[in-house]
Amino acid sequence: MKTQAELKQDVAKAAFDYVRSRVGDKAVIGIGTGSTANCFIDLLAGIRAQIEATVASSEASAERLRAHGIPVFDLNAVDGVDIYVDGADEANSALELVKGGGGALTREKIVAAVAREFVCIADESKLVTRLGAFPLPVEVIPMARSHVGRELLKLGADPVYRQGVLTDNGNIIIDAHGLQITDARGLEERINNITGVVCNGLFARRAADVLLLAGQNGVRTLRAG
Ligand code: 5RP
Repeated sequence: MKTQAELKQDVAKAAFDYVRSRVGDKAVIGIGTGSTANCFIDLLAGIRAQIEATVASSEASAERLRAHGIPVFDLNAVDGVDIYVDGADEANSALELVKGGGGALTREKIVAAVAREFVCIADESKLVTRLGAFPLPVEVIPMARSHVGRELLKLGADPVYRQGVLTDNGNIIIDAHGLQITDARGLEERINNITGVVCNGLFARRAADVLLLAGQNGVRTLRAG
């Protein structure tokens, strides 16, 4: 029986092979954040000389890439992102995601928005029939913390301030517990419309294009629709 760590390695290797089959040496590769994305970064180190450019969705991933000698560019310095590889906290069969367990949701969402193709990588424990068991992260301007908390309560959530965490953008995170998410797209928009919210961890308006899912019997490829 493989451990979750081994499954993350398996799916990172599948993503590595997938990316190499999809894009050439001149590609700009978007890099996600988290332990699964870290496995992918470590595999890229083996072909560092062939990588023209990456953009990172967090300072932590940028540091890890640079430590391997892989070139990292500011998103504004590249013309586009050919392919983006990132993990998730939850995914459904429509490839809608909950992300932001590591607090990098806003930059992740920006890179995903720019990317021509978004490849989500996860072990099979992340596939759910309904999103929301994992608390939904919401990045908030610090002075709006109480206001956003009250608005999240009105939406039926139990908001919990993530103590001691500041995002790469200098903001706080509120985790919205207890949401039963049946309309991910609608909820994503509603939460984004609360004044003081920078972004929330629902990736429904821009869902993944491909989900690589590692299980005990290998890695499956799921596509939306
Ligand atoms: C970070 C994220 C990660 O993709 C998500 O938390 C999954 O992490 P891991 O690969 O460590 O399970 O959204 O903000």
